[in-house]
Amino acid sequence: MAEPVLMPQPKAVAFAPGALPLTAPFAATATGCPQPLISHAIARAQADIARQRSLADPFGVGPALTIHCRSADAGYQTAAAQEGYRLEVDAHGVRIDADGPAGALHALATLRQLAGIGTDPAAIPFVRVDDAPRFAWRGVMIDTARHFMSLAALKRQVDTMERVKLDVLHLHLSDNEGFRVESRLYPKLQAAQHGEFYTQAEIRDLVAYAADRGVRIVPEFDVPAHTAAIASAYPEIAAAGDPADAMGAFDRALNPASDATYRFLDGLLGEMAGLFPDRNFHIGGDEVNDAAWSHEPTVAAFMTAHNLKSRVEMEAYFHTRIRAMLAHHGKTTVGWDEIAATPIPKDVIVQAWRNSNAVGLAVTGGHPTIVSSGYYLDQLMPAASHYAVDPVDLQADGITPDEAAQLQKISPLAGGAAKPLEIKPMPPLSPEQEKLVLGGEMAMWAELVTDEMLDARVWPRAAAIAERLWSPREVRDPDSLVRRLPLIEDELNLDGLQSDANRARMAARLSPDAPGAVTIFLQTVAPSRYATHNQGLRAMLAGVRHPPPQRLTALADAAPVDGAEALRFESLAKHLAAGDRSVIPALRSQLMIWSGNTPRFIEAAHGHPDLEAALPVNAEVATLTRLGLNALFAIEANDTLDHPSIQPQTALLARALADRAASSRPIFAFLAKPPPADLLIAIAPAIDILVKAGQASR
Ligand code: ACM
Repeated sequence: MAEPVLMPQPKAVAFAPGALPLTAPFAATATGCPQPLISHAIARAQADIARQRSLADPFGVGPALTIHCRSADAGYQTAAAQEGYRLEVDAHGVRIDADGPAGALHALATLRQLAGIGTDPAAIPFVRVDDAPRFAWRGVMIDTARHFMSLAALKRQVDTMERVKLDVLHLHLSDNEGFRVESRLYPKLQAAQHGEFYTQAEIRDLVAYAADRGVRIVPEFDVPAHTAAIASAYPEIAAAGDPADAMGAFDRALNPASDATYRFLDGLLGEMAGLFPDRNFHIGGDEVNDAAWSHEPTVAAFMTAHNLKSRVEMEAYFHTRIRAMLAHHGKTTVGWDEIAATPIPKDVIVQAWRNSNAVGLAVTGGHPTIVSSGYYLDQLMPAASHYAVDPVDLQADGITPDEAAQLQKISPLAGGAAKPLEIKPMPPLSPEQEKLVLGGEMAMWAELVTDEMLDARVWPRAAAIAERLWSPREVRDPDSLVRRLPLIEDELNLDGLQSDANRARMAARLSPDAPGAVTIFLQTVAPSRYATHNQGLRAMLAGVRHPPPQRLTALADAAPVDGAEALRFESLAKHLAAGDRSVIPALRSQLMIWSGNTPRFIEAAHGHPDLEAALPVNAEVATLTRLGLNALFAIEANDTLDHPSIQPQTALLARALADRAASSRPIFAFLAKPPPADLLIAIAPAIDILVKAGQASR
């Protein structure tokens, strides 16, 4: 039987010959683990395995599953949780020996993956797994302010996080666009949300739901900027910003010089602190710009009176007061890396996002640090690029000084925003300093993500980053990642993720008459990267003050970043290039499906502007799939792919590859013309592998 696909890769795995037949659900017993936590966890794992496999006797009693927790773990649901476990499968059954309940849940996640998927007789291979995470804090941040995310969608993320051993759901709950939690003290906050907010009962339900699945919820209420929603409900605590500032059109900051602001926040944050039991409480602190307080006379007077010499010192004063306030409510403050720009107490946890240098600066300042730089899912970069970023590598993510200078030339707005992203040489962290890195969080900002898009925008890429945060540093082979990712995605979809189902819904809306033609076309493309698809931002950079809202119903919104079919195709192409000719029929039938779909797409696009915009891309897919088929013919005939006759096609391929390469740097977002329909050709690299193999064959 094929070796099971595991993600995240455990610390140590040793397979042995043989397998445990699984004809019926496990006969499970648990000792030392808290109840009902462990019974619920076993039931979930059994239900998933029943979805993944076709058990011969679903109501019978199968092999033994014994779980022992060595400790009930007082630190469960904290960054100090006991997460290690040993899992052994042999002819006697499955034995799990966990350090604590978190370890038991992780072992059950591994067991699901060991069970695999299929309708053939199920069996779990004999194996011994010894596992523990590299980092304790393995999170996903979801922005619920830019687009509201339903409770059902959030619970689905929690379900899926449990299956890949992620343990922190950081919810960005307030921003300019909305304040998403019911406040009894300040009800005008949710009154403006058109019903798109979580009631306090819903928050309590979500927190309990997540806790049952080993996931902590860290709430974020972003202050003092990103607060237009608060400012419009309670203008008395807002600062006057610069009316000439382009960003000021939608960003509005609170007044840090007014006692009323601190009274308001003590009430609001205290109320919110009571809803979220996690010790950590995130107060944002990012992106206060120079215009935020420039026209607020009380701020200037306050700064003079308190000897604060810059806007940044004013921010530090504000954050120091908020930190004391939260400490009074029993909370540890977390903030984006700006909050440590000037000295602030070392117990504040810093979330590094602007570049990898920010990790070094936070750690050097003595702060426990969470790494998000390099893990921004909203940039629509492939999983492999995030996977390559090691959390403790201080050079891993950022832009070059030259790129920053180029951005400055395009627009002062882009340049100003880019300056802090610039990466500089820095000495590596010492082993002692590395201990301050708690882990990482991927960030799913939702300017361009709706509820129906959430699953496909977070997954499967989140599984790749989960591996980066869990597995030993040496686990970093991108080919192995690309091979496993579509299989893990299938498993997660089978267990309940809605990525495929929602893509089919979006295709049906785009093309009511021929949704299938759109679904197949979407397998061959990917959305353009970084902010290239952000039409509002592009318009603002071009000087438009109030760009119209962007409809998130286009092909680029439905296109996957790492489509399973494209990844599978790429893995097969690599096999062929390595000399395995047995994959030729599979490659050919996939190419014929894609190639044969191109006339259907033309037909479907007729009269639908959203689809017509992609006709040039469809034409390129037609050319490239024919080129791939020609390469396969040449390889099969032991012939060489003929250079001059395919010159126009290879020129087109070179262009598609160059477009992809250019868009692998964030600067592309502002420099390049967006591709037609904001789509890249996802299958271009695999076609290139086939063409090179064809040119080398004979
Ligand atoms: C951020 O991305 N503004 C933290």
